[in-house]
Amino acid sequence: MHQTTTRRLLALLGAAVTAGLFGGCIKPDGAAPPLSGKELFASCSSCHGVGGEGNPTLAAPSIAGLPAWYVESQLVKFRTGIRGAHPDDLEGLRMRPMSRQMKDEAEVKRVSEYVASLPAPKAVKTLADGDATAGASAYATCLACHGPAGLGNEALKAPPIAGQSDWYLLAQLKKFKDGVRGTNPKDVTGAQMRPMAMTLADEKAMKNVVAHIATFSR
Ligand code: HEC
Ligand code: HEC
Repeated sequence: MHQTTTRRLLALLGAAVTAGLFGGCIKPDGAAPPLSGKELFASCSSCHGVGGEGNPTLAAPSIAGLPAWYVESQLVKFRTGIRGAHPDDLEGLRMRPMSRQMKDEAEVKRVSEYVASLPAPKAVKTLADGDATAGASAYATCLACHGPAGLGNEALKAPPIAGQSDWYLLAQLKKFKDGVRGTNPKDVTGAQMRPMAMTLADEKAMKNVVAHIATFSR
């Protein structure tokens, strides 16, 4: 009788020690390890594609290989309503809730780095009626920021536009010109781009400059 009690006590003690030892490996709040950029990207691939190559049917641009600083800046803009909150911005309104799936800045950073690590796809031509030669002279206005080969300039916060799909470039030029993008008072970099889009008189002029950009590759 006495022996059994002692053994039970020892067993209980052993269990407590074991739990104490191994319990130390589990975080006190039971938190799961942080999701990697690749894991976070799983929620993006339904629209942007598994390789970030984009999907014109969903108006989702290619984002693969864009610099992390730019991806991050745009995710922050979407999250805070600086981009994609205008009532006429149908595509932006679809992107906005997606940007809010990242739970904090650290997740935004990790997914941006993953997007930047993906190889940039080759753009497929979808617009037929742009005049690249006429567009080349209009592009003189753009080079100061986007560079002679459209590779962008981080110091000026101008993204690379070389290698981006023509339909997306055209759509963004229209958005800037119409004030659907770049008019939020907190959109400092969008405000720099907007007057540039306004130098392009009409859709034809936009298509021409886009045809010129399509001659660049990333
Ligand atoms: C429901 C479809 C959908 C999902 C899911 C989605 N996006 Fe988007 N995303 C879009 C659309 C549409 C646009 C274009 C918005 C526009 O026209 O201004 C866009 C634009 C972007 C841009 C701006 C690209 C540029 O060149 O300025 C980035 C960056 C981006 N998405 C990243 C992401 C990331 C990262 C995720 C996952 C966390 C994600 N998206 C999930 C639809 C989606
Ligand atoms: C004063 C510098 C400046 C000049 C000049 C300029 N841009 Fe931009 N552009 C920017 C900045 C900054 C952004 C990013 C805006 C943002 O953060 O949303 C941008 C964004 C863009 C985008 C959107 C890219 C994307 O991935 O969504 C396109 C397209 C574009 N510019 C084309 C042009 C064209 C074409 C011209 C010439 C007519 C031009 N830009 C002239 C600074 C400039």
